[in-house]
Amino acid sequence: MDAKCSEVLIRKVSDKDIDAIVALTRDEFKSASIDARIEEMIGGTPWIIVKAGTVRSELERNPGGCFVAVAEGNTVGYITTTVNAAASRGIIANLVVSSKYQRRGIGRKLLNEALAYFRRCGLVQAKIETLDSNEVGMRLYPLLGFREVARQIHYIMPL
Ligand SMILES: CC(C)(COP(=O)(O)OP(=O)(O)OC[C@H]1O[C@@H](n2cnc3c(N)ncnc32)[C@H](O)[C@@H]1OP(=O)(O)O)[C@@H](O)C(=O)NCCC(=O)NCCS
Repeated sequence: MDAKCSEVLIRKVSDKDIDAIVALTRDEFKSASIDARIEEMIGGTPWIIVKAGTVRSELERNPGGCFVAVAEGNTVGYITTTVNAAASRGIIANLVVSSKYQRRGIGRKLLNEALAYFRRCGLVQAKIETLDSNEVGMRLYPLLGFREVARQIHYIMPL
């Protein structure tokens, strides 16, 4: 086990984790959120409401593929996944670690747990997305073996 995160337990998510997961998202995910940029640009539904809804539905749809990191009795990180069965591809949908616990190997550990889950499911590919402004994602994902496929531009307009 990685010495940097030996005191951290990774386990499957349970219903009791949802409030902590939403709080982690609100506290840590804003810089990685396209919806937060949209809110800043043109307003609309607050990004955390949109994001919390997405995360909740991922947890409901695929609880067996969602994991939390627990340290000192607190939920300090989580990862959610979905599966594209037609492509035999696991998709890492959300990954967050509390800033207090970052740089201790927890993000890497959560990613490895999700990848192990995909392999147990017999899937043949894993996919993850990040923004080109997200230096951590751009650095971490290739370290785990992900290769860049494409960059996409998101547009928005008010109606
Ligand atoms: C992305 C995130 C989950 C990483 O969690 P973490 O527990 O800090 O990651 P780890 O400690 O496992 O770091 C693994 C590697 O990622 C890279 N990394 C992590 N944080 C970094 C930083 N701030 N700057 C540069 N590289 C970084 C390093 O290569 C690191 O390995 P090292 O510590 O041995 O150098 C966390 O930064 C986070 O929650 N960010 C906000 C939400 C987010 O951006 N989520 C991902 C959206 S795509």
